[in-house]
Amino acid sequence: MDKKESFEIVGLGGKRTLTGKIEVKGAKNAVLKVLASSILFKDGFSLTNVPDTEDVARILELLADLGVTAERTAHDAYTIDTSKINNWVIKPEISKRLRSSVVLTGPLLARFGQVTFPYPGGCVIGKRPIDIFLEGFEKMGAEIVTENDSYKISVVGGKLKGTAIFLRVPSVTATETFIMAGVLAEGKTVLENCALEPEIESLGRFLIECGAKISGLGTPTITIEGGDLLAGAGKTYQTIPDRIETGSFMILAALCGKDIEIAGCEPNHVQSLIAMLSEAGVSLEVNENSIRVTNNKDSAEGKYRALDIKTHEYPGFPTDLQALAAVFLTQAEGESFIFETIFEGRLGYLETLNQMGANAKMLDAHRALVYGPTPLRAREVESPDLRAGMAYIIAALVAEGKSLVHNVYYIERGYEKIDDRLAKLGVSIRRIT
Ligand code: EPZ
Repeated sequence: MDKKESFEIVGLGGKRTLTGKIEVKGAKNAVLKVLASSILFKDGFSLTNVPDTEDVARILELLADLGVTAERTAHDAYTIDTSKINNWVIKPEISKRLRSSVVLTGPLLARFGQVTFPYPGGCVIGKRPIDIFLEGFEKMGAEIVTENDSYKISVVGGKLKGTAIFLRVPSVTATETFIMAGVLAEGKTVLENCALEPEIESLGRFLIECGAKISGLGTPTITIEGGDLLAGAGKTYQTIPDRIETGSFMILAALCGKDIEIAGCEPNHVQSLIAMLSEAGVSLEVNENSIRVTNNKDSAEGKYRALDIKTHEYPGFPTDLQALAAVFLTQAEGESFIFETIFEGRLGYLETLNQMGANAKMLDAHRALVYGPTPLRAREVESPDLRAGMAYIIAALVAEGKSLVHNVYYIERGYEKIDDRLAKLGVSIRRIT
């Protein structure tokens, strides 16, 4: 069971005093899928720039249970061996804590012609259905049996058949899952209406490097020619920088920073953040692989302009930063509008922000108004999920007084040692078990 931990944070009372450099870690939502793709390999491969987060630990546990071994060769590096993989039944106790475990289904089905897995379970941001996955597998020749909250999927004849799949919604993990399923399917798979997230292209490029035949990466139509098990000997996947971490630190710096450099990032992956924060009046210096945020008081007394945020599939504004953007909008001058178009349960955190002094009004499950600027007051809060948890940390930093943010486990699913890294910027943050 995850130990119950909290962060005690001393707020800056609206002052922007933090200075220093913060290094962005490898992208959780890239490396989880590359690790899942190891099931497509006859031998395995190495990975670097792997973030030390709970989700990575969970997917390695799931893979170990399937017979995949991972040797940790450095703090952020692993070598995976899939030569002895011998199981296609995904255990509920681990997969229930990892939504992205659903991406294991494609590779297992492709390699073994069968997979058993529990309904992955969503988190508080929405019901997280998997209809697109199930319909796609059926189109590739699989049969699905449900028995006590688990799915048993098998392919008559043992091999998935390449086919054309139009994704009803440009789902990120469904796109990745079908790419991986297509790698070992018989014949050609053509995916239409694919998601365009950089993590998908990063996964696809690595699979091509190891022998997969994939075209159309970075476009809505991706074609995969089925073939044999991939060969990864001597190959190393370099995890791309985490664009959601990058955006999180940009918002933190805009609200609490005097002069902060966000290093080791890929600015091209956060264009929507750069556009949004610049429009609000934040002074950003964008370099090759770093972004600097400075708060020189002479820029109109550091006041930020209210604006409208509409989340959208990549390259639009990422839903994963919607809660953090809302914290920013509580400090912007005027009425802002938030439209969460991707998930139906991702505005719940606004109630907590209001208890801290914000002035937000939920119009329906997808839309809200935020009036600012309002000073925030410290409070004891419960992180409901990974991204709202990070939003609460930023709100606690803006607030006056000492806050307590519970459920650190959620936050550490996606942010490695966030307390140590924030402390280096001058944040007074203490972990309480
Ligand atoms: C990925 O989730 C990310 N997770 C999420 O990040 C991110 O919020 C999301 O993409 C959107 O960008 C990982 O990559 C592990 P979707 P995913 O399928 O793939 C509907 C984080 O904090 N849908 O693109 O699960 C779904 O309900 C996490 O790191 C169906 O209807 O999201 C949603 O409304 C949170 N049927 C929409 O598609 C399906 O079969 C987009 O979801 C699948 C999805």
